[in-house]
Amino acid sequence: MYGACVGNLTLRAAPRVTVVTREAEMSMDTAKDLLKHDLGDLLYAEKQILKTLPKMIRQTSDAELKERLQEHRTETEQHVENLEKAFEAMGLKPKAQKCPGILGIIEEKKDFEEDEDPTAMVLEAFNLGAGLRVENYEIAAYRSALALARSLAQREVAELLKANLDQEVAMARFIEGSSARVLRNVQAAMREEELAGSAVAGKAGKSAGARKSGNSSRKKAG
Ligand SMILES: [Fe+2]
Ligand SMILES: [Fe+2]
Repeated sequence: MYGACVGNLTLRAAPRVTVVTREAEMSMDTAKDLLKHDLGDLLYAEKQILKTLPKMIRQTSDAELKERLQEHRTETEQHVENLEKAFEAMGLKPKAQKCPGILGIIEEKKDFEEDEDPTAMVLEAFNLGAGLRVENYEIAAYRSALALARSLAQREVAELLKANLDQEVAMARFIEGSSARVLRNVQAAMREEELAGSAVAGKAGKSAGARKSGNSSRKKAG
């Protein structure tokens, strides 16, 4: 199996000889077709990521990570453009190909938010892992497509894929490098929330106790 979104494929250098008229009956058997599939898969993934990044940015309180995510959003727009250029370099029209792999990672985050109803701080900690999952998925997909482009001597395609790959690797490293700091801040904020919560509970307990003793002294007086 080649890549997460590709079924059982056998690569052969020779082009397909049999002409099949119905698309449903056509099987893929050239490396060029596979590269086209990979580009479409990546194009779909990048567009999905572009849709989810604004929410991720809103959910981030760490200033440094927020700024880097905003920067990566601009990079992601460039990734889409580079993939479209890669299609054109192969003489093809850019066409996104549904990628269940990236949809699964996005779905996982959505499910977590809906099922666990996390506090903003817990969600921020969860998002570090979600972001890292996305980047590593992209890295694996770009590395596979890049190896294929190089094997087909598609130099321009390879250069475009490498440019995107380098930015994904840099982003993954940034998230990894920021995790300890972000988690420290998140834990400090959680402790503050807990302390504030127990102070409120303590005050409520005291006033309830005062009300109770007031009532009992009134009862005694009566
Ligand atoms: Fe990307
Ligand atoms: Fe990325």
